Amino acid sequence: MVQVSPFLLVLFLALGAHGLSAKKCSLTGRWVNDLGSNMTITSMNANGDFSGSYYTAVSTTLEKIKVSPLLGSQHLPTQLKQPTFGFTVHWTFSDSITVFTGQCFVDDDGKEVLRTMWLLRSHVGKRGDDWKATRVGTNIFTRLQPQQ
Ligand code: BTN
Repeated sequence: MVQVSPFLLVLFLALGAHGLSAKKCSLTGRWVNDLGSNMTITSMNANGDFSGSYYTAVSTTLEKIKVSPLLGSQHLPTQLKQPTFGFTVHWTFSDSITVFTGQCFVDDDGKEVLRTMWLLRSHVGKRGDDWKATRVGTNIFTRLQPQQ
């Protein structure tokens, strides 16, 4: 049987753990959240400005849900392995706007996860209704794997 010295074993485990934590989190690609909404981030420039599209699974309105554009900005993964970001979704089928802010984390198993909070501002007809116009919540996004 092959003998492995405890020193080599510890070195191997340390390098393995470092390899996982060194994985950088990148926002580009397709994501699904805990509500079943789909988000695609298509373009990212050198400053970390990005755009994409959002297909929500749920809505506060009775309008037919349509794919809506998003615009955002992130700190660059070259500087931070688990960058913070924010983006705005301009809903095309309703008068509301949602802003998301969050951070991209790499799990212990190397899986990327976006933990976000959002504010959804609905349109109201008069100032007296302002108090009920903003909802707040959280969403967790995981990367959609390409179909095999
Ligand atoms: C609207 O209801 O006016 C537009 C759709 C809002 C969908 C919200 S945004 C926050 C939450 N996360 C989602 O993926 N969908 C809902």
